[in-house]
Amino acid sequence: MQSLLAASRSSSRQLALGHRAFSSSLRRWQAVPTEKPVLIKEFKIYRWNPDEPEKKPELQSYKIDLNQTGPMVLDALIKIKNEIDPTLTFRRSCREGICGSCAMNIDGQNTLACLCRIDRDASKNAKIYPLPHMYVVKDLVPDMTQFYKQYKSIQPWLQNSNPPEKGEFLQSPEDRRKLDGMYECILCACCSTSCPSYWWNQDEYLGPATLMQAYRWIADSRDAHKAERMERLENEMSLYRCHTIFNCSRTCPKGLNPAAAIAKIKLEMAAE
Ligand code: SF4
Ligand code: SF4
Ligand code: FES
Repeated sequence: MQSLLAASRSSSRQLALGHRAFSSSLRRWQAVPTEKPVLIKEFKIYRWNPDEPEKKPELQSYKIDLNQTGPMVLDALIKIKNEIDPTLTFRRSCREGICGSCAMNIDGQNTLACLCRIDRDASKNAKIYPLPHMYVVKDLVPDMTQFYKQYKSIQPWLQNSNPPEKGEFLQSPEDRRKLDGMYECILCACCSTSCPSYWWNQDEYLGPATLMQAYRWIADSRDAHKAERMERLENEMSLYRCHTIFNCSRTCPKGLNPAAAIAKIKLEMAAE
């Protein structure tokens, strides 16, 4: 019994010693955090308040320390809203480039604020505007009513009045692949609002985002309304205002190519 007690005492001593050795090596391993130098950058942000219609829109300046901010422009906007000016208005939801709601014009480029890294060159200010050529609801929030109306007009859902008796519509891997590069669109409108044709003919020209979605359904082997879908685009304005300038594909923050989809619709229409 005594030898058992002695063995247990010695193993506890070893454990305690081991623990001390571990904690002291942990202390050595944990480097003392060093203070990061202050890195102040100026953000100039478009402001307009519908409750003060007599006031013209203006760029308001905010200065924040980049070393106390997350790396993305959306992090900076959230910091400004939380800590400096709660009246600053912008849309955001997922913070992961999925919802499309934080689309805005950052340093001259339409993009998603949550996917756009802050340029850490503090000698240059950052300029942030709402998506161009859209009505503004407030500050960085554009009115998307017309954009969604156009999207609805292409009837973006599967149409087939002869569904399979049981189970699902089947699709070959090749047919499924035809949808790649289109189904990923998050309808952020960065492309449409960078398109000069859309700027000047927004009432009638559908714009690259909506047209790519129109083609996403035209190209779907399960859909039975290809002819009707193409017929709806067969007029002077809905499709043919695209002059293949490719602004849309250059700006897409998801790396998609709406101009190529538009070109494919035109090819299929020509072949009909
Ligand atoms: S390619 Fe067509 S849709 Fe894209 S920016 Fe140019 S005109 Fe607009
Ligand atoms: S194609 Fe790209 S830029 Fe255009 S709406 Fe879709 S995700 Fe946004
Ligand atoms: S917050 Fe959703 S895409 Fe930026």
